[in-house]
Amino acid sequence: MTPLLHRRRRRTAILAAATVGALVTGALVHTGTSAAASSQPCDLYAAGGTPCVAAHSTTRALYGSYNGPLYQVRRSSDNATRDVGLLSAGGYANAATQDAFCSGTTCLITIIYDQSGRNNRLTQAPGGYFPGPGPGGVDNLAVATAAPITINGHKAYGVYVVPGTGYRNNNTNGIATGDQPEGIYALFDGTHYNNGCCFDYGNAETNSRDNGNGTMETIYFGNNTVWGYGAGPGPWVMADLENGLFSGYERRYNANNPTVSHRFLTAIVKGEPNHWAIRSGNGQSGGLSTSYNGVRPNVAGYNPMKKEGAILLGIGGDNSIGARGTFYEGVLTSGYPSDATENSVQATIVAARYQPSGSSGSTLTPGSTVSLRATTACCTTRYLNHSGSDVVTSVVTSSSSATDKGNASWIVRSGLANSACVSFESKNTSGNYLRHRNYQLYLNANDGTALFRADATFCPEAGKSGQGTSLASSNFPTRYIRHYNNIGYIASNGGPNTFDAGNLWYEDVSWAVSAPWTP
Ligand code: AHR
Repeated sequence: MTPLLHRRRRRTAILAAATVGALVTGALVHTGTSAAASSQPCDLYAAGGTPCVAAHSTTRALYGSYNGPLYQVRRSSDNATRDVGLLSAGGYANAATQDAFCSGTTCLITIIYDQSGRNNRLTQAPGGYFPGPGPGGVDNLAVATAAPITINGHKAYGVYVVPGTGYRNNNTNGIATGDQPEGIYALFDGTHYNNGCCFDYGNAETNSRDNGNGTMETIYFGNNTVWGYGAGPGPWVMADLENGLFSGYERRYNANNPTVSHRFLTAIVKGEPNHWAIRSGNGQSGGLSTSYNGVRPNVAGYNPMKKEGAILLGIGGDNSIGARGTFYEGVLTSGYPSDATENSVQATIVAARYQPSGSSGSTLTPGSTVSLRATTACCTTRYLNHSGSDVVTSVVTSSSSATDKGNASWIVRSGLANSACVSFESKNTSGNYLRHRNYQLYLNANDGTALFRADATFCPEAGKSGQGTSLASSNFPTRYIRHYNNIGYIASNGGPNTFDAGNLWYEDVSWAVSAPWTP
């Protein structure tokens, strides 16, 4: 480290430490709807000499003086849009705006505004090397109600990313390029992840293509082990630097990078010439730990970096769309932030008192028996059931036959292909499971093959329409259990088959997990 750099860091640390003191005092006396007025994350980064150049959140202001919109939603009933703003300057999201506007219909998050004043907003990602599942290859947008939380007692919503969802800005202003220094932090749901590529937030290629080692610098969160990984089973906070998720200096395994799964997880990646770091912490209490702080990885192509300055959320640099995760807030800075500045940012996150609320689709407990009721307005008395090996929806009532009730009752099993997901065994026909074949659902006996296990495994998540639970196919993760003309399928939104029709897709893939007709 040069003496000059050293002096700059020491001055920054002193400034940040002073701000933390002010923040802690403010937090102790804070009771109202607005947050501590001048000590929000981007105020702290600015005080540290590393200002935010992009600031995204659907839950709160990231500057004490910010009083603009946080995000925009679009409702399916008439395609109208509405900005969701703040309860007060520097405060928390006004979720009531969304709730009123989206009542009785489905809303998607169309824009996540940039609070930095640089218009580095995030919108629907275009297709890249990999096309998205939407029309013309764009990625899907997040369902606005899918990640409810409270923040300092106020209702708010995060950005719930499932495979196929992605946000991007390939034409930014002021974001680091080349080997320029930058810092990135984000607050994620540490319990919502997978091993797909790649739940990223940060700096990426401006053409949505893999442009080679060092053309990205993002935070990655999940348990992908294709490239790097850390200690324990994962998930890990790593850096996606393109063609590699790095957990530290070594390309593959770095023992100092721990498994972290706090419900609210603060994650940090920062980089400057031949120097970078990974840090993380519990967004509900305590401070940050550093799992790597050193020179660039032991692999050619990452020093110097070749950052391009696009911003993405929920996808890989080449628009890989296999990942899931939840985002609440995050920024990119100009300059390499000091640890002290980041520690004070972590203090504002803890002071915001993030709390879970509602369901994220995890109402299916292995061993229990359930019935799955359609929620589309046409069909709210119909249940997913089998008739022989065919899987359909039928009206079931208390006067239905015992056979019909049993055929509409499913024993929830730990996912045959993935224990983080579930499988459904027929209550009436032991050893027979709900599975898809050629994208249609059937009831078949488990034949013990890996293909059967994959075809019979579904991953629950919050209902796509904002109610109930949606069930993603484990081996076709952009396809969800859907009823269409009363027949069961796994359907993608707007895909090539008739049953992939976009009309009513969100409603048709949202199921009310109900008390079983046959317990
Ligand atoms: O670096 C991991 C991934 O590799 C990147 O996100 C993607 O662009 C490429 O497939």
